Amino acid sequence: MKLRHLTSITDLTAYEIKKIIDRAIVLKKQQKTKRKVKKFLDSKTLTMIFEKPSLRTRISFEIGMTQLGGHAIYLGPDDIQMGSREPVEDIAKVTSSVADIIMARTFSHESIIKLAENSTVPIINGLSNLEHPCQILADLMTIYEVKKTFKNITISFVGDCENNVTHSLALASAILGINFKCASPKGYFMKKEISTIARKIAAKTGSKISETQDPKEAIFHSDVVITDTWVSMGDEKEKEKRLKIFTKYQVNNKLMSLAKKNAIFMHCLPAYRGNEVTSEVIDGEKSVVFQEAENRLHVQKALILFLLGL
Ligand code: CP
Ligand code: NVA
Repeated sequence: MKLRHLTSITDLTAYEIKKIIDRAIVLKKQQKTKRKVKKFLDSKTLTMIFEKPSLRTRISFEIGMTQLGGHAIYLGPDDIQMGSREPVEDIAKVTSSVADIIMARTFSHESIIKLAENSTVPIINGLSNLEHPCQILADLMTIYEVKKTFKNITISFVGDCENNVTHSLALASAILGINFKCASPKGYFMKKEISTIARKIAAKTGSKISETQDPKEAIFHSDVVITDTWVSMGDEKEKEKRLKIFTKYQVNNKLMSLAKKNAIFMHCLPAYRGNEVTSEVIDGEKSVVFQEAENRLHVQKALILFLLGL
């Protein structure tokens, strides 16, 4: 079997994304109904490398491995000090010689690529400065559970469009033929390298990818409204400046009212209530954020099985 990685959501085709989601739905049902689940990962080990903090990514990967009969090892920022104590290339070679699969959360996307280039086992991007593909698989699964289809769906993202979540969302939307509209202040649009790829893929799948400075225009008539923190991990130095610049991009009830009546609200969490979203929205009836967070577990179990060819 050819070695597969998930460094970017573009490592998967539309068919593969749907296949992973279908399996995740089955695994979720089995877990919820306490049916006996095959221990597909018996004696298998996932090594998790974290350069940044995490709640969801860590617990979902670790619990997912346990549920499938495997084991997960947590390596925090002080354990291996990627790039300073040891080169990324050496870490990939050593770790992949003993582990079955590796997940890494890094500052630089370059580190994810270097891990993949030097590993003999699958590398999963658990968030880099450029992309957050595992999150977007969970988002897509949630959208599919609620809307039952990806056809004629429009996703709006309002906030920091230059971040990892937006990038993977735009790319995934293009791959699946979903329309994607994002709104951010000038200077915070998607990175050109990402929007160019997203538009290229969209031209083939028939989806529309658009960027605007107007949050109302982005949200108008959409099916799914998504936002994320205005200050991503690594951007803390700019916190004060960002909180001012992004003020009018807060998702509140007034803005939500421009989306379709049955629109849902999503957020990868952690959320900063009162900044990018109000409590009335994130804790309101349109919000599916906790279903979305739980789906990290189910979809990543399906992803691991997919990457290991099981
Ligand atoms: N959404 C997400 O990735 O959460 P964590 O940073 O807590 O892992
Ligand atoms: N964009 C956020 C996502 C957190 C899960 C960050 O990178 O901090």
